[in-house]
Amino acid sequence: MHCVKKVTEDLIWVGANDRRLAMFEGVYSVPRGVSYNAYLLLDEKTVLFDTVDKAVRHRFLENVAEALGERKLDYLIVQHMEPDHSAVLEELIARYPGIKLVGNAKTLAFIKQFFDFEPDALIVKEGDALLTGRHTLNFLMAPMVHWPEVMVTYDSADKILFSADGFGCFGALNGALFADEVDFNRDYLDEARRYYANIVGKYGQQVQALLNKASGVPIEMICPLHGFVWRNNLGDILSKYVMWSEYQPEERGVMLAYASVYGNTENAAEILASRLSEMGIAAVMYDVSVTPVSEIIAAAFKWSHLVFASTTYNAGIFVAMEDLLSDLAAHNIQNRTVAIIENGSWAATSGGLMRKKLEGCKDIKFLEKTLSLKSSIKAEQLPELYAIADAVAEDFRPAEAKESGESAVDPATMFKLSYGLFVLTARDGEKDAGCIINTATQITAAPLRLSIAVNKANFTHDVIVKTGAFNLSVLAESAPFKIFQQFGFRSGRDTDKFAESDYSERALNGIRYVPEHTNAMIACKVIETHDYGTHTVFVADITEAVTLSKEPSVTYQYYFERIKPQPQPPKEGKKGFVCKICGYVYEGDVLPEDFICPLCKHGAADFERM
Ligand code: FEO
Repeated sequence: MHCVKKVTEDLIWVGANDRRLAMFEGVYSVPRGVSYNAYLLLDEKTVLFDTVDKAVRHRFLENVAEALGERKLDYLIVQHMEPDHSAVLEELIARYPGIKLVGNAKTLAFIKQFFDFEPDALIVKEGDALLTGRHTLNFLMAPMVHWPEVMVTYDSADKILFSADGFGCFGALNGALFADEVDFNRDYLDEARRYYANIVGKYGQQVQALLNKASGVPIEMICPLHGFVWRNNLGDILSKYVMWSEYQPEERGVMLAYASVYGNTENAAEILASRLSEMGIAAVMYDVSVTPVSEIIAAAFKWSHLVFASTTYNAGIFVAMEDLLSDLAAHNIQNRTVAIIENGSWAATSGGLMRKKLEGCKDIKFLEKTLSLKSSIKAEQLPELYAIADAVAEDFRPAEAKESGESAVDPATMFKLSYGLFVLTARDGEKDAGCIINTATQITAAPLRLSIAVNKANFTHDVIVKTGAFNLSVLAESAPFKIFQQFGFRSGRDTDKFAESDYSERALNGIRYVPEHTNAMIACKVIETHDYGTHTVFVADITEAVTLSKEPSVTYQYYFERIKPQPQPPKEGKKGFVCKICGYVYEGDVLPEDFICPLCKHGAADFERM
């Protein structure tokens, strides 16, 4: 039975879906099916836009008959002669005698190549128009989007662009006809990109020419021959087409495609992906032996950086990788940064050959060195592998930072991390030690375990190294600045930091803690230490934990905004630098590079000019 959909008051979708097709065009898997769209305009004249694939001819003919009713069919506009849209042409003409075909000269030539009949045809060229009553249909040639005879039609009455293959999408229509009836970006954008990249990706220039023509007319609706009709947010799909046709990457990140027989090349690719991820760079991985090439080609159109890793096979590139690279070059991939990893147990050749495959593509920047593995990656090759990640990170640095030679690391960024603040205490015999830290983090719940990082310059650090025990007093928001002065701005080597305290509490381990302006005390026993240059990380089991109050814990940000005295404006005529950590003011024109804040012991890098 027919299944038609109303597009506008006088335009009806009469297409059909195929969910049984395994390979579109014999090469692209379509696990979610495909739609073959055709549209019937019921004006004073009736006009059919294209037909469908032979697999769905029956439903299509039922749909046309239903939508047409008792009316005769006046015109069939043939926008594209590829058989997925023209297979039913001859049968349609037989059913609706008197119909006039509308196409360009190339359309007619293709009709004669595919069929053996002489159509009654109206030949049109760029800019020609067909008046059908209320509607005027204007024809715009769109050669190579996707075949040379392709033309699109602009209905100036309702501002509809009938776009042939352009703006199409893989996937059958599941009831919804309009893109705004589904979550397109979440559920269909990947398939739209896969469709674009594989069907018209090669013809970016021609797509741009069509976009240029289309930009000259107001468009309120796009009716493609596959996928959804666009009537809202047309900018979404148009902007994607601009990006794709200009071969601009959609996302900054790395696509890694690898061919690995026994998992060793995959291992190198995974280590690289992990490294990238740790650096905050998005990475996606594809095993070329199992992922359809069309998916990887679509991913290559999406991501800015491409890594190809392949074992050497029959003295060449592994067959699935060779296929991918040939296809990628055939689809005209451009404007990407590429890194190559080869593997070979005795005579690695795949790297050079992979590079050669892509050398003819426009604006491909190769990361200079091909990483060559012998069977598997070894520890001494990790720096070379990591250099690929570093090169990608360098590409992502803002241009201004690169030009100014500025570091990629903005130290102020670290202030965005959320920290608590703690008084860390330890005890060596009769000597109590304490300092302020902001680095306590719970690691596991069973067993209850945490880590702290402590500057080696702190006396408390040395005591913990010696005794293997410490307490943390979790500072609360009521903590006054004087606690930070008391424990943070002087050294326990030459001062008794507890001398001015009017409390003397100790935990079960005998170490003091701070019972005031704190909300918890946690006693710990060190189980591991890790040396990190300026700091030691202590991993410790929690031996006692006591809640002291319901007050919120102070955060690093709260301390800076509410507790730390705000820097005062300089006295008139005075020049100087202010410590961003504690507010100490250094007066003078030049701050010595090795200056250390006498209050908080932070270096010159933590000062800013007043
Ligand atoms: Fe949907 Fe180029 O055919």
